[in-house]
Parts: sequence; C-alpha cells; structure tokens
Amino acid sequence: MKEKITAMEQEALAAVAACADLKALEDMRVRFLGRKGLLTDILRGLATVSAEDRPAVGQAANQVKETITAVLDARKALLESALDEKQAVDEACDWTLPGRRAPLGHMHVINQVAKEIIDIFGQMGFQVAQGPDVETEYYNFDALNTPSDHPARDSHDTFFVKPGVVLRTHTSPVQIRVMEQAKPPVAVIIPGRVYRVDYDATHSPMFFQVEGLLVDEGVTFADLKGTLMHFIHTFFGPNTQVRFRPHFFPFTEPSAEVDILWTADDRHGGGTKSRWLEVLGCGMVHPEVFRNVNYDYEKYAGFAFGFGVDRMAMVRHGISSISHVYENDLRFVEQF
Ligand code: PHE
Repeated sequence: MKEKITAMEQEALAAVAACADLKALEDMRVRFLGRKGLLTDILRGLATVSAEDRPAVGQAANQVKETITAVLDARKALLESALDEKQAVDEACDWTLPGRRAPLGHMHVINQVAKEIIDIFGQMGFQVAQGPDVETEYYNFDALNTPSDHPARDSHDTFFVKPGVVLRTHTSPVQIRVMEQAKPPVAVIIPGRVYRVDYDATHSPMFFQVEGLLVDEGVTFADLKGTLMHFIHTFFGPNTQVRFRPHFFPFTEPSAEVDILWTADDRHGGGTKSRWLEVLGCGMVHPEVFRNVNYDYEKYAGFAFGFGVDRMAMVRHGISSISHVYENDLRFVEQF
C-alpha cells in the first residue's frame, strides 16, 4: 500500500511538471486528486489494511495529497503569470501594423544616365573601354596632337599631380590607349571621370564624360553624323532638332560641336521657351593621332566624339545646378 502511494506521488510530480497549459494541469488535478481520481482509489483500499497499519498509511496518503496540491498550485501560478506576460505583449503590440521597410539605395542619376547612353551605343555595336584617371601628359595631350603651348595645358585649367602627370581633363586619352592595344576595326564607348580647374553653376571640378571612337576603312563624316543623330533621337526624343556647328579640336579634323534645340517650360513668361544647347564635341580622327598609334592613315578613317554625362542629365531632367548632382543631398538624389 505504502509503495503504491509513493509510486503515485512520483508519477504525479512528473506529470504536473510536464503540463504546458492550464487545461492540461486541470486534467492532472482531476486524474490524481479528483473524486474518481487515483488518490480516492487508494483511500478506498484503506479498508483492507490492518487496523494497526491504518493510521500510518492514512497519514502517508494525506501527505501525498498535500504535496500534489502544492505542486499543482505552484505550476498553476507559473503558467498563469506566463499567460499574463504574453497577453501584455499582445496588447502592447499592434500585430496588424505593416512592417517598416529598410530604406533601399538606388543608382545615382549620373549612373542611370551613363548606363542609358552606354546601352544606346551598345546596341549599335560599341564596346565599353576604360582608362586611368591619373594620366600622363603624353596620353592626355601630346598623343592627341595638343601642343605644349595649348591653353588647355595651363595649370589654371589642368590639375597637375607632378610634372608630366595630370588628372585627365577628358576621356580622349583612352582613345590612344585603345588604339595602341587593338587594330581596326575599333568601336568603343568610354565612360569615366574627368577633372578640370573649374567651378560654377554648370561646371564641377570633377565630372563624367563619355567618349566614342570608331575606326575602320572608309568611315566618313556621314557615319559620324548618322551615329550621333541616332543617339540624340533615342536619348532626347525622335523629334529633337539637331545642329552641327564647325569647331576646333586638336585631335579631330574637321571638328564640330553639336547643339540640340531644347524646349523647356518658361518659368517667367508661361508657355514654353526654346534655345540651342551645346551637348557634345566631335570630329574625324586627325591623321597625326593615327600616326601616334601606328595606324595607317591612308587606309583607315575614324570619328570620335565626347560629351558630359552631367550635362545630358541636367538637360534631360531640368537640373539647374551641377552642384546638386554631386552634393548627394538625399532630397535631390531620391527624386530619380
Ligand atoms: N575631348 C573633348 C572635350 O573634352 C571632346 C571631344 C572628344 C571632341 C572627341 C572631339 C572628339 O571637350
């Protein structure tokens, strides 16, 4: 009898400790202490115990009842407080609120426009080429037929790193690097940073250019014009009016600047206002440049062009000052 009581006690302690919720706990109370429970069973058997053992067995049974009641109460208190805590959290939090999204970065407007430009030329078969930002005077000037007394070589216009070494003032030196490496036919598009001692609303000391170079047999100015017209009509729209104006660059002959007729809302008079905007420089590769890279200028002809990505972005998006583009004020950057 005594063993039976002890066994039941062990079973009850383990069962109560395993209860995960109040419902399971109540089931255990009924199972062990209920009117039809295991303890009641045992007490009923007391009649069969001899008279002299009965008090001790009875006492043991009462003891067990107290123990089980105590663990049941303790477990109940524990489960209830866990429940309260969960409820408090549930009430403090609105689980139906949408989550906060972490802010996601995106491509800078200059990179967006550069990518668009590269894609347009890529579809025409031009491949991307790149060169170093820190360049020798040879590549930046001499090889491009720019004499040492040319005004562009003045320290007022060019950042000199040390004698003979500059921050490239344009992407044109990459033309030389490409032609030194490859034989015609060549068709490359060259994006990159360039540097000039210049700073106002439309000039930044560092800005982005895209250079183009195409060399093959029988290339004419008509090819240059057709290529650039296609680009401008794709980038600025099919009805954009274009004007080629004679110009001078030491490394192209003949040379031209290209203007587009740009129509913008007239902020003062209302309606719209049109004006010619210079957007790029271009020309037929100068024979002297071909000589510098050992290209046969009797056999090959080529055209080159270059323009500021910043300028393209400013015209396209109506950006008034180039400093906006490089200050990286999020109020500006996030508009694109
Ligand atoms: N490199 C010239 C500039 O920066 C642009 C140009 C490139 C002109 C190629 C002609 C041919 O102004």
